[in-house]
Amino acid sequence: MKLAIASDHGGFALKQDILQHYAQYQWLDLGTYSEESVDYPDYAQKMADAIRSKQAELGILVCGTGIGISIAANRCKGIRAALLYSVEAARLAKEHNNANVLVFGGRTMKPADVFSFIDAFMAAEFAGERHQRRLDKIETVE
Ligand code: RB5
Repeated sequence: MKLAIASDHGGFALKQDILQHYAQYQWLDLGTYSEESVDYPDYAQKMADAIRSKQAELGILVCGTGIGISIAANRCKGIRAALLYSVEAARLAKEHNNANVLVFGGRTMKPADVFSFIDAFMAAEFAGERHQRRLDKIETVE
């Protein structure tokens, strides 16, 4: 699977942890590449472009809390970004929401928890049917 990842400075350390932990995947690293201050909407936009152009099937975004970059990503057409906070939420983000971007807080979450959320999401399947109907409704308001 082709994966993309991006963060602002607040998410940089966790981004690097994720890349190291999941070194078996083919990653498109969209930055940022240091802890120098940057603006998270720029990285949400880079991710949206990578997903829409099919350079990646799934994206991971990280900022300090995961909140700002979620807000920015969910304004982008075609992006279903889920800020994950538990294994159950991670599973449901796939089964019900078919999220195409996972979001984490680099200053608020422990790497081991984040890895368990990513694993739960990856192991799940989209359930379709009524959930697809709901996603279609989101698309009509985009
Ligand atoms: C950057 O200082 C911080 O505001 C950002 O990483 C994020 O937490 C915003 O929601």
